[in-house]
Amino acid sequence: MGERGRPGRRTVAHVAPKRGAGARPALLVVGVVASALAGWGAWAMAAEPGAGETADASVTAVTQTATATATPSTPSPSVTSEAPAEPSTPPGLDLTTYSASDPSSIWVVVNKQHPVTPLTWAPDDLVAVGSLRLRAEAAEHLQQLLDAASADGVHIGLRTGYRSYDQQAAIRADLEARKGYEHAEKYSARPGYSEHQTGLALDLDSTTQPGCGLKLCFADTVEGQWVAAHAEEFGFIIRYTDDNADVTGYSGEPWHLRYVGTDLVQYMAEHDLTTLEETLGVTGGDTYAEP
Ligand code: DAL
Ligand code: ZN
Repeated sequence: MGERGRPGRRTVAHVAPKRGAGARPALLVVGVVASALAGWGAWAMAAEPGAGETADASVTAVTQTATATATPSTPSPSVTSEAPAEPSTPPGLDLTTYSASDPSSIWVVVNKQHPVTPLTWAPDDLVAVGSLRLRAEAAEHLQQLLDAASADGVHIGLRTGYRSYDQQAAIRADLEARKGYEHAEKYSARPGYSEHQTGLALDLDSTTQPGCGLKLCFADTVEGQWVAAHAEEFGFIIRYTDDNADVTGYSGEPWHLRYVGTDLVQYMAEHDLTTLEETLGVTGGDTYAEP
């Protein structure tokens, strides 16, 4: 990835993933601060069938096109001659900057141990991006991601973003009826326990291989590969991988992104962390807490 001055992008270089195919590429910060400081109707069928599930043809993939605006690079601060050289220490990130439990926080952790609280909470700043809705900040960054992909000739489809408690209940019930309880537990949150309800999570689709929608083979599509390489630049993580399933409580979902902002993404990369649970010190796993 070269430097193309895309809005919201950090200057990062990608190195090979350290783990299996589901692993997130590590980021090596190289730029920005050159002074050595790193610096729905049909929606129910659109969600999370999981590995081996057939994509629902009623769900329309939406291709985004827009024009990215160049952002000038940050000039390097000058160094005074009398100042002793200080060891370059990247500024730390205060991991208490945002709440991990408030549903309106961009760092909220929602998993089988930590439901959305209150259980039927809904965001009040949802914005449409194509066919889905996300909270405004996440929507802005998703649009930037889609524009950047488009500029690279990759047209990413969209499935669902925000899902209400009731929508999640219907999705979960539908999947459970079709695929069974065990399968549903691995791929679909019970109502009130889905981070889709926060308006910060979304599911992507492949426009070149629509048969890989909501399937593990999404990771092998041109769209899935672009997303795996670049989602972090826009503040998104691939939330569920087979490697971190013990912590997240869900099997790998290469199509499911979660917005957390570029600061936390960078922190996670620098500390080789792939889960919000480990990063923010929140319990996880595949056992549900009692509501
Ligand atoms: N597929 C994710 C776990 C959800 O249902 O929120
Ligand atoms: Zn999802």
